[in-house]
Amino acid sequence: MASSGAAQVQSSAGEAMIDVRNLYRSFNGFQVLKGINLKMAPGTTTVVLGGSGSGKTVLMKHIMGLFKPDKGEVIVDGENVSTMSRQDLAVFRQRMGMVFQNAALFDSMTVGENVAFPLVEHSDFTEAEIKEKVKEKLAVVDLYNVEHKFPAELSGGMRKRVGLARAIIRDPKIVLYDEPTTGLDPLTTESVDQMIIGAREKLGVTSVVISHDIGSAFHIADHIAMLHHGVIVDQGTAKDLRNSKDPHTREFLATWFGRQ
Ligand SMILES: Nc1ncnc2c1ncn2[C@@H]1O[C@H](COP(=O)(O)OP(=O)(O)OP(=O)(O)O)[C@@H](O)[C@H]1O
Ligand SMILES: [Mg+2]
Repeated sequence: MASSGAAQVQSSAGEAMIDVRNLYRSFNGFQVLKGINLKMAPGTTTVVLGGSGSGKTVLMKHIMGLFKPDKGEVIVDGENVSTMSRQDLAVFRQRMGMVFQNAALFDSMTVGENVAFPLVEHSDFTEAEIKEKVKEKLAVVDLYNVEHKFPAELSGGMRKRVGLARAIIRDPKIVLYDEPTTGLDPLTTESVDQMIIGAREKLGVTSVVISHDIGSAFHIADHIAMLHHGVIVDQGTAKDLRNSKDPHTREFLATWFGRQ
């Protein structure tokens, strides 16, 4: 497992669940992340807000260990995912659940099969145990008796819920959401926000939400980080950001409030 000396990081008391340290990353000479520092406390929800192309998804992929930094590191649950081998990462990622932007369900599989999918390679569970786990995770997202339905028979909000049930099937400590409310109507957005709040309250997970939806961020976040051209220009609670003097934050907020 990933507890070999190099990957293990000494942690002091009250350590962050996710600690992004001085992270730099460029692609083809274009600097995308320019020295990101960001700590996420256990059991909290952090929203990374930023415009299109600001580097949100690239940051998230570094947290998952999918990308390696040019400089700096990401420590997740006390282990350095930036230096971890591919094999160790495959095991380590059980601690992380990922909810993709478009729910990314398999249309030809039932809801039950979709949610069970990450368990398939762990054949030590019996069919009855898997069924029980699927039912339990669907209940976390307030879905009942939908196991035999197909994704096409569900609303957009329900599909998102199924996506989360699948992401938590292996009891992760961390759940990452990429743009969970983009393109959704206000009512569905509200239901997805409630789902994210519910997952944190019921499971105690540490949540990271990548978004450009300020309304949603203010609703769900314990901590908000503003990413602008690869730099965290501002961070704090929703209240801190509302009162922020940072010009990028003010501009971002003004655009959003202008649309209300
Ligand atoms: N694999 C890659 N190879 C080359 N360039 C990349 C790669 N991934 C991202 N980039 C570049 O990094 C920059 C930031 O991309 P990123 O996907 O992180 O933006 P984002 O903030 O998630 O935007 P959006 O809100 O549109 O999803 C973009 O200029 C993009 O072209
Ligand atoms: Mg993105």
